[in-house]
Amino acid sequence: MNLLQRLGIDLPIIQAPMAGSQGSALAIAVSEAGGLGSQPCAMLTVEAMRNELATIRAATKKPFNVNFFCHTPPRADAVRETMWRDALAPYYRELGVDPNDIPKGAPRRPFDEEYADALAEFAPPVVSFHFGLPSRELVERCHAWGAFVLSSATTVDEARWLEDRGVDAVIAQGAEAGGHRGMFLTDDVTTQVGTFALLPQVVRAVKVPVIAAGGIADASGVVAALALGAAAVQIGTAYLLTPEATTGPVHRAALASDAARVTALTNVFTGRPARGIVNRLMRETGPMSSIAPPFPLAAFAVLPLRAKAEAAGSSDFSPLWSGQNPSGCKAIPAAQLTRELAADAA
Ligand SMILES: Cc1cc2nc3c(=O)[nH]c(=O)nc-3n(C[C@H](O)[C@H](O)[C@H](O)COP(=O)(O)O)c2cc1C
Repeated sequence: MNLLQRLGIDLPIIQAPMAGSQGSALAIAVSEAGGLGSQPCAMLTVEAMRNELATIRAATKKPFNVNFFCHTPPRADAVRETMWRDALAPYYRELGVDPNDIPKGAPRRPFDEEYADALAEFAPPVVSFHFGLPSRELVERCHAWGAFVLSSATTVDEARWLEDRGVDAVIAQGAEAGGHRGMFLTDDVTTQVGTFALLPQVVRAVKVPVIAAGGIADASGVVAALALGAAAVQIGTAYLLTPEATTGPVHRAALASDAARVTALTNVFTGRPARGIVNRLMRETGPMSSIAPPFPLAAFAVLPLRAKAEAAGSSDFSPLWSGQNPSGCKAIPAAQLTRELAADAA
């Protein structure tokens, strides 16, 4: 049985889960069109996840993917936190933010027992992870209800590690990809290579099917990835302008502008390297900062700046996640985009 048969989909297109930029509406549209829609849960409470999954179940009988982060929550480091807030202090003054109002806690929560309990009620056919895998027990729970388990690899070593721990397919995430690097065996960004360098090496290194991600934006890109051995592709950036995505106005405007041609890996928004369109915060404090607190703690100090700036129509402090190839971004219904992407795939 090939990957598409195993996933129960008609088209070799997996819509990348994009936490903060989409919910069930995009997942439903892509799944209904014959691809695999994805529901990101990294920024959802268990209750919010339940609501989104109930919405998907009510809207479609087609398969869908549910996605989680599985980072190890960091220990809070007061010294680093203070250094980071000091670095941002001029911006707090400029925008009139009271540093005492900055929230504490974790804005992104890893997959855990509580998510797994709620997820089991829905028994989604596909579950994907970013930043490695949760414990063996949690992966086994997903397999126990019949889920097909995916995770992202950004190096050959990560692909082998994932295969050894029982993933059913590996997502080879090239350096072009928008959003967070899935890297988990290293934090050295010089190890990160492009999709068409990574993909054939991963295909040779593992026996499970490989899904290509990063910089794929049109039908010919899909065909090229399949020619290099991918069993399917995972596409994120191209969906960000569809009406079903929840991409905010300043992010949409940036994606549609010439500014989208210049992206970089940055850790200033969350503490982990992620690719976004270069903006003021990235230029002035990064794009990679040695003082940004570890993921996801860096995010808090930036949130109030983002809120103030966005209210004034500015994208200076917003994470403008985008891959290196924004040329496929189209403000057309996600179903139509999915069909266009798959148009030349046999
Ligand atoms: C806005 C945005 C948010 C993302 N959020 C997630 C996420 O929550 N979980 C995940 O596994 N991958 C996430 N990614 C990465 C995608 O899974 C995928 O690797 C990437 O979109 C592929 O490259 P492309 O953007 O060039 O198509 C995100 C990507 C973008 C653009």
